[in-house]
Amino acid sequence: MTPHYITTPIYYLNGAPHLGHVYTTLAADVLARYWRLAGANVKFLTGTDEHGSKVAQAAAAAGEAPQAYADRMALIFQDMTRKINASNDVFLRTTEKRHHEAAQALWKKLEAAGQIYESVYAGWYATRDEAYYDESEIVGGKAPTGAPVEWIEESSYFFRLSAWERPLLDYYEAHPHAIAPLSRRNEVLSFIKGGLRDLSISRTKFDWGVMVPTDPAHVMYVWVDALTNYITALGYPDENSSDFQTFWPESLHLLGKDILRFHAVYWPAFLMAAGLPPPKKIFAHGWWTCDGEKMSKSLGNVVCPFNIIEKYGLDPFRYFLIREVPFGQDGSFSEAALVTRTNSDLANDLGNLTQRVLSFIYKNLDPQIPVPGDLSENDRELLASAAHLEQILFTDIDNQALQAYCQHIWEVIRKANCYVDFEKPWSLRKSTDPQDHKRVETVLYVLAEVIRHVAVYTQPVMPDSSSRILDQLGQKDRTFASLKTPLVAGTTLCEPVPVFPRIEQRD
Ligand code: MSP
Repeated sequence: MTPHYITTPIYYLNGAPHLGHVYTTLAADVLARYWRLAGANVKFLTGTDEHGSKVAQAAAAAGEAPQAYADRMALIFQDMTRKINASNDVFLRTTEKRHHEAAQALWKKLEAAGQIYESVYAGWYATRDEAYYDESEIVGGKAPTGAPVEWIEESSYFFRLSAWERPLLDYYEAHPHAIAPLSRRNEVLSFIKGGLRDLSISRTKFDWGVMVPTDPAHVMYVWVDALTNYITALGYPDENSSDFQTFWPESLHLLGKDILRFHAVYWPAFLMAAGLPPPKKIFAHGWWTCDGEKMSKSLGNVVCPFNIIEKYGLDPFRYFLIREVPFGQDGSFSEAALVTRTNSDLANDLGNLTQRVLSFIYKNLDPQIPVPGDLSENDRELLASAAHLEQILFTDIDNQALQAYCQHIWEVIRKANCYVDFEKPWSLRKSTDPQDHKRVETVLYVLAEVIRHVAVYTQPVMPDSSSRILDQLGQKDRTFASLKTPLVAGTTLCEPVPVFPRIEQRD
């Protein structure tokens, strides 16, 4: 199976982690967990982007030296990955020595290839975005993102980005799925077709960055250093390292739509200019608003992910973020929507199904998975929909269709609930006919088998809750491959405890 290298952006340390950071990390986590369960070789990278004027200013505002500030803030971001149960294999900090070495090696490669020249930059810069803007992009004295801009004039090294216009267009022509969703790909293509100008890639006005290896008066533009993190984590500049050999360019970069240009234009151009292949896929997701309004500190409506987790639990929060909005589109966060979603999908649909079935087996059937009798058409149909999930979910994940991944599992859950209503095992059990009793065992076997499938497939989204269901079902092997073997009758169940309590709605 192809190896999977899944990355999040590395996060700026200028403030506490917010919903945006949590969202990309979570989406990457779902994909990484899925591929591991599918048996693939996976590397999941996240980390922090610690250089640049934005972080330097935040450190100054906190009255701390940049390195001390970065050390303190990086711990908070590392803690965020634990709080959301992210299974990242690497947490990379750009202040690490290995990263400085990688960024400098890439720079030297670009320089040796004649891709860098020295000149003077005179133009607009927005520290909030860590981005340069053309005069034509400035609207009412601000960047198109609304960020304040300042005029800077300084000696700078430039990267010959203009030379990569054609190669980038050719590359994307030949690789139609390299940028997703499609609307984002079109955006990137029209940006490139609009003409690329050489890019200023060093600064002299401050020194909080990776030093330009050939000129200590300059530090690298923070995006040059930051983007390199994706190969630092694979052992670059050692291109023969086993990680680099295995995982580059098998990468899937996940990021928000606001930083697509850096990833889909600058990064592949740097790589191609250094003689390296561009990343295999770049997926840009949308932005969360709060109750339909842009989240901002000044509006005081910034969602604190950790308060939400504390209030409603981690897995309902993870499920909500993945299920509520098609991955790639914008979404509106609200606690009311989270409560509704949790109660309907988790407490009612999945919670009731597992609780009813497992308690029935526990109380009435020894407590062991019963031996099924002959299967009816109805039994076969339900089992077949659970078995078909394998292919359907593979396609969803391959397309990063995370919402569809949940929807497809829930279609099976709803079918199983209809099956319970139709088969009525509770009333059958009261019958005095032994044939009815055998039928009860068959129905409960079928249901337990469907619950096993569902819980195995919900693991990437809700690792803890799924594992509790699988514990109760007495299942040890939880890989996707384990589903190839039918559920073993006679397996002893553990006492069922409800996994998804209802959230009482307050007015
Ligand atoms: N440091 C750069 C990335 C460098 S990657 C080589 C950066 N950091 S960031 O901390 O500002 O942003 C990280 C991510 O958070 C971006 O992908 C951005 O899209 C995302 N989000 C910020 N606010 C968001 C929402 N309200 N909703 C969803 N994601 C949002 O950019």
